[in-house]
Order: sequence, then structure tokens, then C-alpha cells
Amino acid sequence: MTLNTLPAWSALQAHYEQIHDMHLRDCFAAAQDPAPTRAERFTFSGAGLTADFSKHRITDATLRLFTQLAREAQVEARRDAMFAGAIVNPTEDRAALHTALRADAVQAPFHAEVHAGLARMADFSARVRDGRWTGYSGKRIRHVVNIGIGGSDLGPKMVTHALHHLASPEISTYFVSNVDGTDLARVLEQIDPETTLVIVVSKTFTTLETMTNARSLRTWLVQQGCPETALARHFVGVSANVAEVVKFGIAEENVFAMWDWVGGRYSLWSAVGLSVMIAIGSAQFGELLAGARDMDQHFCSAPLERNLPVLMAMTGIWYRDFFGSQSYLVAPYSEALHYLPAYLQQLEMESNGKSARLDGAMVDYPTAAVTWGEPGTNGQHAFFQMLHQGPTLVPIDFIAVLTPEHALAGHHPRLLANCFAQSEALMLGRTLEEAQKIAGPERPELAPHLVFPGNRPSTTLVLDALNARTLGALIALYEHKVLVQAAVWNINPFDQWGVELGKILGKVVEADLAAEHVAAGKHDSSTTALIARARQALQRQTPR
Ligand code: F6P
Repeated sequence: MTLNTLPAWSALQAHYEQIHDMHLRDCFAAAQDPAPTRAERFTFSGAGLTADFSKHRITDATLRLFTQLAREAQVEARRDAMFAGAIVNPTEDRAALHTALRADAVQAPFHAEVHAGLARMADFSARVRDGRWTGYSGKRIRHVVNIGIGGSDLGPKMVTHALHHLASPEISTYFVSNVDGTDLARVLEQIDPETTLVIVVSKTFTTLETMTNARSLRTWLVQQGCPETALARHFVGVSANVAEVVKFGIAEENVFAMWDWVGGRYSLWSAVGLSVMIAIGSAQFGELLAGARDMDQHFCSAPLERNLPVLMAMTGIWYRDFFGSQSYLVAPYSEALHYLPAYLQQLEMESNGKSARLDGAMVDYPTAAVTWGEPGTNGQHAFFQMLHQGPTLVPIDFIAVLTPEHALAGHHPRLLANCFAQSEALMLGRTLEEAQKIAGPERPELAPHLVFPGNRPSTTLVLDALNARTLGALIALYEHKVLVQAAVWNINPFDQWGVELGKILGKVVEADLAAEHVAAGKHDSSTTALIARARQALQRQTPR
């Protein structure tokens, strides 16, 4: 498929020429916005979430073209193939069946394996939570350390943080991902070897960072008094590579399966979520799966014109491919969703940051935008200046949670007010005329600095409350959004060849850092100089 030749693509291009100057302020002006209002026409719900798309630079015609594009790009066929377990990841010859991990129908692919895996997780996490699983000295587990990186870290970390209000107060959960020893060292300061359970999560069980951290933690445990023979009480593995886990020294009965047909960044629904299940219990973990399943059902059954993942994907494509935006911001007005932007960075950019189409030809249109974000209201006091007055268009996903997870009076109305006010201000802007009135006759030169162009688009996603179910639906919404965009861009969202080259060169550089001599010309002059300088510094450091 060549995207640019699809009739809907050309129609969208022509439509863009017509409406790109349209100002949202005018669209929302009372006289232009009779019932049903923009808010009514462009707000849609599904799986317990509501999404207001009315502050986008769209009209009814745009939505019709979005739907037409989704049809012509065969989004529904791509979706159905994924759910059915077809090889939708051809470069790795794999299916992508993360949806099977939360399916409840017995006829769903791999139903028996999935449910046996969940039952083992539930049994194990119950024993850790109620104190039956003990460390080497017989004390119950109080600290759980998840060692993993990328998809083996970001999902469980984000969910554990988000659902902290549902977590057992008996157990603290830590996440160590970075090969920078500072990450592990700071966790070691907080944990007690007698009461620590380590979950080593790695699909391949060969990932440099994870294996380095896992070995260091094992050494630390032994140094702190854990007998080698009791290490099995402190280490479990989650992996698709059981042989490597056993080689590392984790007992086979302490290995939880990951499957080839689930990609790392889509895997939190599997045993990769073991730390989550230990924190919140299997019933709440079931709610997380149920929320994702709600979204799966919505994605598969809602008409394209009211389908949340499709609309999220299409608005993203609208700005990326037609308005030329380089990035998009995720602004959860929720401290609990602190790690959502980081999680989405991997989901969106590792999935769709590609240039080769499925047929091997190169794209001649932009694919994934830079995803970034920070919870509100913090971002308002840092980078929102640029969003309001910079010359760059950055579409935004605002996420508002109507009910707080805490009991502190007075905070929540302010939080929500700020969220809604920001999207309103970004949309409305302030004209020169208005600015001149504010600047007054005394300081007319100030007026241009008080102008806000407005017309800055955003989606506002609203959750009644942040709980396991709504969080599951929210995550699945973004997963499916990524699939829809991949279908339109005609790329494979399930591989990640772009991470390989740096890993290969990393090994070469590491060897050269330790070598007596590096052959001239082996690296470019910049890399050679950096290695030489670091080698000297490393030689001066005495290992502690
Ligand atoms: O290097 C990228 C990557 O392969 C991600 O796709 C993955 O989530 C992460 O590394 C961790 O991989 P693993 O689970 O095999 O350790």
C-alpha cells in the first residue's frame, strides 16, 4: 500500500488546505456552535473512558475523512489479524497477542496457557502477600525488587505507582533498570536482605542492564548473609528463555513464563506484571485485565467514527503528517500517572519510530512523533510557556481524573481547574486587541508579549476515578492507538531493529575501554578520543 495514493489521503490533504487556518476560537463562538455543540459532537466514550476531541482542528468533514482513511488503510483487517493471532510481526515471524493475555473467552488463543500462568502468579503472590513465602531467615517478604528494563520495567513501574493507593502497606516495591550502578545502589540502601524478593524480568534473559543488576544483587544478598542454598527464596525469574534463567541460578520452579507471541512493551498483562500483582493482589490485577478487555471490546465493536483508539490515532496523524508537528505531549493531571509519559515513550516510539514500510520500501511521510510529558500542574511551571506562545505546534493529551485517590481537602478542584483552564487557554489564545487593553496606554510595547496565538489542539481524556479497571482501559487505548497508526503508516509496530546497532557497538566500546591499546582507525576520531579519556579515568578508579 502506498499511503499517498489512497483517495482519503489526498482528500485529507485538500481538506487540510481548506481548514488549516480555521481558528478554534471561532468554531467555539456561541453563534457558530449551536446544538448539538462541538463538545457534544466530538466527545465519545468507551470502556469507562470519555474523550473530548472538540478542541481539535477538525470539522464533521474531517471526522468523515478520518474514518474513510481508516477503512482504506485496512485498519479493521490489521486489527482482526492481530486479535486472531496472525503473524502481524513478519520481520520476527511472530504474532502479537497481548490481547490474549486479558481475554476471558475459552476460545481465545492460548487460553489454557494464559490462565494457568495467571493462576500460578495468583498463588505465588498470595503467598508473598500473606507472609507464607519467607526469606532465608524465616521472615516474611517486605521488599520486592523488580529488575528489568524497557518493557520489563516501564509497564509494571507505571502501574505500581499509579495504583499505590490499592497496594498492600506490608510490602514496598522497587524498580531497578539502569546499568548505572546508582540505580541499584540507592535501592540497596532501602532494603533488608532477609526480607527482599527479587523478580528478574527479561524476555530474552540476556539483556546487559538486567543481567548486570541481577548479578550484583545476588552478590549483595550473599555478602549480606544469605546462604547460596537459600537464594531460591529470594529470586524468581520472568522470561521466555527458561534455559538462561536456570543457568543464572534461579530454580526452574521459580520461573514464570513469557511468550514469544507477546512483545516486551505489550507484556505487562503477563507475568511481567508479577510485581504489580504482589502489590495490589490478584483480584485487582484481574480488574486491570478486565479494563484492558473492555477497551479491546470497544476497539473491535465500536463504529470507526466513534472508536476511541481510531480517533486518537487519526488526530495524531492529522498533526504529524499534515500540520507537520514534531512531537506530542501527554499531560496527566494526576501524580499517580507520573510514569505514564515514560511508558508511552517506549510504546509509541519503539513501536512506530520506523522508516521501512511492511513491504520494505521507505516511507515518504513522517511516522511516530516524539512523545513526551510530565504530570500537571508541574509542567505548567516549566514548559507550558512554549506550548502557549512558542511558534511550534504541540498537540496534547490532557488526562483528568474526576475523583482523587487521597482525602486532602481543596487540592482536587484546583488540579481539575488547571487542567481544564490550560486546554481552554491553549485553544482560545489572546488577540492583539485584547493584549493591548491589558497592556494599557502606559506600556503599549508590552502588548505583543501578551498575545497568545491559541488554536493549539488537545484531547481531554476523562476518567471518573483512577482504579485498576480504568487504568487497564487507558493503557489498552494507547496500545490500540499505536496499532491504528502503524496500519495507516503501513509499518510493523512490533519489532525494534533500531535498538540493535548501539548494543553491538556498546560491546566493542566496552572491550576497548578495558584494552591496553585500540587500533588506530578502529573508531572515528570523536569516539576514539572519548574512549581514551574515559579509559584514563577508569584506570584511576579503584573498584569498591
Ligand atoms: O532493547 C530494547 C528491548 O528489547 C525492548 O524492546 C525490551 O522491552 C527491552 O529491551 C528489554 O528486553 P528484555 O525483556 O529481553 O530484557
